[in-house]
Amino acid sequence: MNNGLKIVATASALPKRRLTNEDLEKMVETDNEWIITRTGIRERRICEGENQITLSVEAAAKVLAAAKEKNPAFTEEQIGALFVATSSGEQLFPSAACMVQKELGLPENMLAYDITAACCGFIFGMQMAHAFLKSVGMRYVLLIGSEHLSKIVDYTDRSTCILFGDGAGAALLTLAGENEAEYYANHRVNGNDGALVCKSGGYMQMNGPEVFKFATRVIGSALDALLADAGMTVGEIDHVVCHQANKRIIDHVKRKYPGNEEKFFMNIESYGNTSAASIPIALDEMNQRGLLKSGDKIICVGFGAGLTWGSILVTV
Ligand code: UT7
Repeated sequence: MNNGLKIVATASALPKRRLTNEDLEKMVETDNEWIITRTGIRERRICEGENQITLSVEAAAKVLAAAKEKNPAFTEEQIGALFVATSSGEQLFPSAACMVQKELGLPENMLAYDITAACCGFIFGMQMAHAFLKSVGMRYVLLIGSEHLSKIVDYTDRSTCILFGDGAGAALLTLAGENEAEYYANHRVNGNDGALVCKSGGYMQMNGPEVFKFATRVIGSALDALLADAGMTVGEIDHVVCHQANKRIIDHVKRKYPGNEEKFFMNIESYGNTSAASIPIALDEMNQRGLLKSGDKIICVGFGAGLTWGSILVTV
């Protein structure tokens, strides 16, 4: 059996400042009704004082505290790797992962680096965490997804500034035990710097309709490919957590799975698209709301700039 990935604990860290649709109405030619109808977003959080490193540190501190509360035998010496998925880091180096290690005084004998895979960062990070846990034999991987996207958003471009927000989420991961869950995952890349791109020192630029079409196509294919590999139906899955990019994208996908629509979690209304942070923030919100039960099977699906997409089955 190829043991799957298990989520031990989750956490999130969000900037205090809320940027509402009404605030955006004063900045660009848009309106609340248009944003809600086309995206499902009502507000997003924006850094003011916080940044991608402070959010990562806060999410990491919270997830370690949650893990200790759940399992008093857990120690930080059992963490073999610390990965931060981000495409909006504060500095080229040291990595945010190294800054988290320093700020929290974590042990030195761990692998620590950042993963740049835009909105697929957390999905690819979970796949790397699994490979690492299988090969190295350490007990845990600390995986953080964190973004300070407001730095690279052009607040005069109404087609992007309404979508994105800042935030961080974290998960402590371990290998699932025998009979808990097998490992199933897939990943794809199709290099394209025209649909969604951010050059060094510039703002992000997006062809929204092209990314929209791409997203609705690949979420279904990544989900179906995983289910086919696992020999499962979506009915046997407890939750599907898609990258939160646009409510209409998720609504479009979930219609393909009649009777299972309620399994597709959504919290984009409150945070917008937080790129690599969106899946761990969603997982933590589900956890805080008591939606995750021990043994639940979750499929996480990501897609984004690259273009990249993929999915992974995890258990709790
Ligand atoms: O993490 C992955 C990254 N990104 C995504 O997943 C984004 C995927 N794409 C989308 O979510 C959607 O394409 C958007 C929300 C960005 C845009 O929605 P749309 O329904 O695809 O609109 P559109 O770009 O086709 O534009 C329709 C109209 C245009 O006006 P005209 O040319 O028809 O007169 C736009 O200028 O809506 C206009 N428009 C706006 N109007 C009011 C575009 N942005 C806005 C706005 N407020 N903020």
